Amino acid sequence: MSILALYYSRTGRTKKVAERLSALLKADLEPLHDQDDRRGFLGYVRSGRDAILKRPAILQPLAHAPADYDLVVLGSPIWAFTICSAVRTFLEQHAPAIRRAAFFCTHGGGGAARAPAEVESLLGSPLAVPVLSLQDRIVDRGEGETEIARFVESLVALFPNSLRV
Ligand SMILES: Cc1cc2nc3c(=O)[nH]c(=O)nc-3n(C[C@H](O)[C@H](O)[C@H](O)COP(=O)(O)O)c2cc1C
Repeated sequence: MSILALYYSRTGRTKKVAERLSALLKADLEPLHDQDDRRGFLGYVRSGRDAILKRPAILQPLAHAPADYDLVVLGSPIWAFTICSAVRTFLEQHAPAIRRAAFFCTHGGGGAARAPAEVESLLGSPLAVPVLSLQDRIVDRGEGETEIARFVESLVALFPNSLRV
């Protein structure tokens, strides 16, 4: 099985989870680069506005083609109860090329909220496995290993004819 772990991260938490998943799943890693300046307080405010208004992001070209993979594991921070702009734009542009998708997110404490349903709606199909949702303090303390391992097991089980990772 070939897996692409694709994510956006403004402050590093989704990146940290994506890197762990990529190592466990032996997945290629693709960070989304949004050309908007999202640093600092103003960047935070702009990001919240963009998420609420579902404004598209301007993404740099991808290094990997999603169509080349059996599974795309997609990671987003929760912004205003939903997915961030970069992940929304990625899905709007590439959903038809995705064979199967799983989703993980990081959040400040509000949970995954509307994000999984939004991802499924943009994909036009259900997610392959239940969502991995990790709160900031869990990610910061490196305490999410049990949840991450459960998510990885559920993904490996999708491909019973492949070697276990
Ligand atoms: C614009 C903005 C909106 C956010 N909205 C929410 C929210 O609705 N619920 C929540 O639990 N966390 C919210 N957060 C917190 C982030 O989801 C959380 O800090 C996440 O781990 C950040 O991931 P990152 O470090 O990969 O950027 C928001 C953060 C930003 C920047």
